[in-house]
Amino acid sequence: MQFTFYGHACFAVQIAGKKLLFDPFITGNPLAKEIDINAIEADYILVSHGHGDHVADLIQIAKNTDALVMGAYEIMDWAGKQGVSNVHPMNFGGKVRFDWGTVRFVPATHSSVLPDGTYGGNPGGFVVSSVDGSFYYSGDTALMMDMQLIPRYANIDVAILPVGDNFTMGVEDALVAAEFVQCSKVFGVHFDTFGYIKINHEEAIDYFKKAGKTLILPEIGKTISI
Ligand code: NI
Ligand code: MN
Repeated sequence: MQFTFYGHACFAVQIAGKKLLFDPFITGNPLAKEIDINAIEADYILVSHGHGDHVADLIQIAKNTDALVMGAYEIMDWAGKQGVSNVHPMNFGGKVRFDWGTVRFVPATHSSVLPDGTYGGNPGGFVVSSVDGSFYYSGDTALMMDMQLIPRYANIDVAILPVGDNFTMGVEDALVAAEFVQCSKVFGVHFDTFGYIKINHEEAIDYFKKAGKTLILPEIGKTISI
């Protein structure tokens, strides 16, 4: 699996020959100004919830790539009204089987409304499994007991978790989340983009290391193989 970070909570993942893109928010992120959204390829775009810092570039990239867009029913309905017809609506408890693997939509504890005020349904996360491995993309969320269910669905090789605090989990709770999902490797996301979520990188990485886990705070534009 190859993970490319596009800033904030936006990740591209290459898995089992497919390109998955999560929560496209790039043009509005000053830290990601080097990234050209028109150069991004995707077979699937997975959307965790409706907030602008997760969907701002969704419509543009969906139209550019004709990727299959997946997420909450209400967000797919909204995307349809913006002219994106290749959508796959989901809700909690649901899993979709593809010939390359499975995508499961799982709960998150957060809120969800689209930038124009449209109700976004419930916020969620995804468990993606394939022969290449499995990962958990939690989306914006608090720490929650439901995360203990994740290891029943897959052996998680890497978890993509928010660590920026204030709007989501911070570093301390993200470590507990990593324990709940039984995963030793975490990509931290949702940090530094705005003033509210600036974190001390060294302290965060050290906090995980002391607990025997690895926190990676990825550099924007860089690709990491797992
Ligand atoms: Ni959010
Ligand atoms: Mn967010």
